[in-house]
Amino acid sequence: MQKRLLSFVLLGLASLLLVACGGDEEPTATPAPPPAAAQPAEPTAAPVAQGNAETGKTIFASTCAACHGPSGQGVQGLGKDMTHSEFIAGLSDEELIAFIKQGRPISDPLNTTGVDMPPKGGNPALSDEQLRDIVAYIRSIHQ
Ligand code: HEC
Repeated sequence: MQKRLLSFVLLGLASLLLVACGGDEEPTATPAPPPAAAQPAEPTAAPVAQGNAETGKTIFASTCAACHGPSGQGVQGLGKDMTHSEFIAGLSDEELIAFIKQGRPISDPLNTTGVDMPPKGGNPALSDEQLRDIVAYIRSIHQ
């Protein structure tokens, strides 16, 4: 009778240990899902950053062409040539957008012509998306 009780108690202890071990494994299993859930957000974010060069060409014609010429080749005494600019080639799309937003006034030591490059080409209404389109167009005419 006592042996039976002992084995019953041992069995109980063994199952308690099993439960305890099973409980230990769970915390290592739960941290896995977050990285998997975070992944889908990245592929959807990337295409949005691409501008439309066709739309950009239209905006360029109305806002930038007066100084930079209809095809971005520059106008004497006004805007610089964009088609062979090493400055433009050296900037990322984000940096180029930041530059266009800021412009390059005569007071800027980096100004090379003594003529103002106004912020957003003098058109403060331009949105980030439109600037991205302009940058796509500028990339397409750069040689
Ligand atoms: C009022 C005339 C004017 C307008 C409008 C204008 N720009 Fe400019 N832009 C300039 C001048 C002048 C410079 C050269 C500044 C200097 O002396 O460094 C320049 C320079 C630049 C440069 C740097 C080129 C280089 O090689 O250093 C970029 C890029 C540029 N403009 C983009 C634009 C875009 C995009 C627009 C339209 C949204 C625009 N500009 C509208 C006058 C203008």
